Amino acid sequence: MTTYLLTAAGVSLALVTQDDRLPRVLHWGRDLGEAEAADLETLAAAERLPILPNQIDGSLNYGVLLEARDGIMMRPGLIGSRDGADWTPDFRLGRVLLDGAPVDGPVSAGAATLTFEATAAEAGLTLSLEIGLTAQGLVSARGTLTNTGEGVYQLDELTLSLPVPGRAAEMLDFAGRWGVERFPQRTRMSVGQRRREGRHGRTGADSAYVMHLGVPGFGYADGEVWALHTAWSGNHVHQAELDLAGTQVLSGGELLLPGEARLAEGESYQSPWLYYSYGEGLDAVAHRYQRFLRSLPHAPATDRPVTLNVWEAVYFDHDLARLTDLAERAAALGVERYVLDDGWFGDRRDDKAGLGDWVVSADAWPDGLTPLIEKVHGLGMEFGLWFEPEMVNEDSDVAREHPEWIAQPKGRLPLPSRFQQVLNLSIEGAWQHVFTQMDAVLRDNAIDYVKWDHNRDLVDTGTVPEGRAAVHAQTLAFYRLLDALRERHPDVEFESCSSGGARVDLEVLKRAERVWVSDVIDPAERQRMLWWTSQLIPAEFQGSHVASGRSHTTGRWHDLSFRAATAVFGHFGIEWDLAQATEDELSELGWWIDWYKANRDVLLGGELVRVDLPDPSVYFKGVVTEAKAIFSVSQLAASPVCSLGVLRFPGLDPDARYSVKVIDRQQVPAEGRPSWEVVDVVLPGRLLSDVGLRAPQLLPETAVLIELERQ
Ligand code: GLA
Repeated sequence: MTTYLLTAAGVSLALVTQDDRLPRVLHWGRDLGEAEAADLETLAAAERLPILPNQIDGSLNYGVLLEARDGIMMRPGLIGSRDGADWTPDFRLGRVLLDGAPVDGPVSAGAATLTFEATAAEAGLTLSLEIGLTAQGLVSARGTLTNTGEGVYQLDELTLSLPVPGRAAEMLDFAGRWGVERFPQRTRMSVGQRRREGRHGRTGADSAYVMHLGVPGFGYADGEVWALHTAWSGNHVHQAELDLAGTQVLSGGELLLPGEARLAEGESYQSPWLYYSYGEGLDAVAHRYQRFLRSLPHAPATDRPVTLNVWEAVYFDHDLARLTDLAERAAALGVERYVLDDGWFGDRRDDKAGLGDWVVSADAWPDGLTPLIEKVHGLGMEFGLWFEPEMVNEDSDVAREHPEWIAQPKGRLPLPSRFQQVLNLSIEGAWQHVFTQMDAVLRDNAIDYVKWDHNRDLVDTGTVPEGRAAVHAQTLAFYRLLDALRERHPDVEFESCSSGGARVDLEVLKRAERVWVSDVIDPAERQRMLWWTSQLIPAEFQGSHVASGRSHTTGRWHDLSFRAATAVFGHFGIEWDLAQATEDELSELGWWIDWYKANRDVLLGGELVRVDLPDPSVYFKGVVTEAKAIFSVSQLAASPVCSLGVLRFPGLDPDARYSVKVIDRQQVPAEGRPSWEVVDVVLPGRLLSDVGLRAPQLLPETAVLIELERQ
């Protein structure tokens, strides 16, 4: 028996191997300190499950790869066969590596990656399991299966699993749809599987996002929670399963369509990375994911440029004079980046034509984009441009020339969605077409930023002539395309948009600086979306705009104060026809832009704290840095209780003194509305965190900010 202990940032992962078998998890959770290998071995020997009546003789080995050959009757980690044979391989452990160097004997290390190499000689397979702990305390895991035997090995699923203690009996994951991204749902775990499949060929607005199991009643600061994120932008699964022996696992991987992973001799399949987070409460779980993203080389700094996106201002009406006027108005307010959205290319005068032809439209832009770009740059702003590289309208030059490049099964086209089809990037010619055209646009125009969109699901997606399923290949081709363009244009920043927020995951975010959280900019919806999108990604990655007073997507009207106080907790921007705004609105918006710039180091660099309050319609959160904290309290619906009660501000230094300043810019009549002015005070952090301040009532669909500055 050999034990492997990794500990970082308050988390320990202890693995054990025995009798040449694949590793199993002895512990994933709280930091085990300087646990001795001998004690871990004793524990591993002692914790063997009792033999259950009428069950397999011997104790079961719940490995990171769940195997039937171990007597496990959960969903197997590997599903596949060689024409019906070799479906339950007998993997034997070979070398074990620590950060690439072979080890022999027990391991005790900090943040590191272990690789377990195994061979199933009779089945003609090898498996490599990479299991690591990041500096932020995330467990990372992925598997690579290689066919070393004769003939094709068809892999149908490769999932890895980590056990979660049975006391974590309550689940939180997410649902969603267009405009309602990241909607939390809590359920009680029971025997069987809770399997969340994403079959959209993109991450999906309804992705499980982060699947949590926690001790019942877990909140933001309390209750142990174990969580999984499957980092994949194509079809994927998140799964929790509880078996009759009381073992509970969190598993993830890619959801392969029939025949997508047919491995010829010598070929390999690599699963997506899984990222597991553990913590006391949901904030601790979120912090690990957020810190991990912030540690990546391309992670943006806090000086995110205030952005204006023209979509909700002009839609497809690309008129140079109007767009120039908008640029001037934006610059006058202090906007720092200007993004031209859909409609500048091919025959794209509406959403029925032109996708796939990434050439500046001579019709809409007779002098090219240069006049606008020069204007925007001259005004001191960056210039961004919209693309939807993986899509095609049937009414486009590329589809007319290469109908076979449309992803399709044999003999028919998939049902259209938003009048569009998927361009099959797994066909080399199609990939080259998009790469070449986009590369030329980025080369010939001074573009600082790309909004990369993806507006339809991949259903019925195949490659002709056979019509073989092509979602797996498309997902890989998407990454390859984005990587190649980033390499060619290293100074361009990329945003991942997908009908709003349908492509938000850690794999795309290794190659994008921002996501568009949702097409719904209505602040009453955005309060929830920013709150929960933060469960995985930090604020500076979340595109967050102020739109017009009446939401284009929900029809609701909101004060600018509510719209702005909501949007500043992300990468702030505007998506509003400023020519329609009143002088008062422009001056108020200017105030918010200035305030954002003065505070973005806190808003985008601080640590998020979310506070449980009894009224579910109240969102009370803050971002905390050494020097300053900014909290927001927002009431979404009228409450029968006429006060928010006492607001306690977590995360402060108990021994420091803080000045408290309330930002209440609600433009509603003051009648019947208690004032916040009483809280202009200086107090020690301890009193603010442990006692708190009594807050007056808020009107429905309003928000107030509280600045706490260390003295
Ligand atoms: C998607 C995006 C929007 C906008 C439109 C353009 O819906 O989410 O922000 O870019 O496409 O067609």
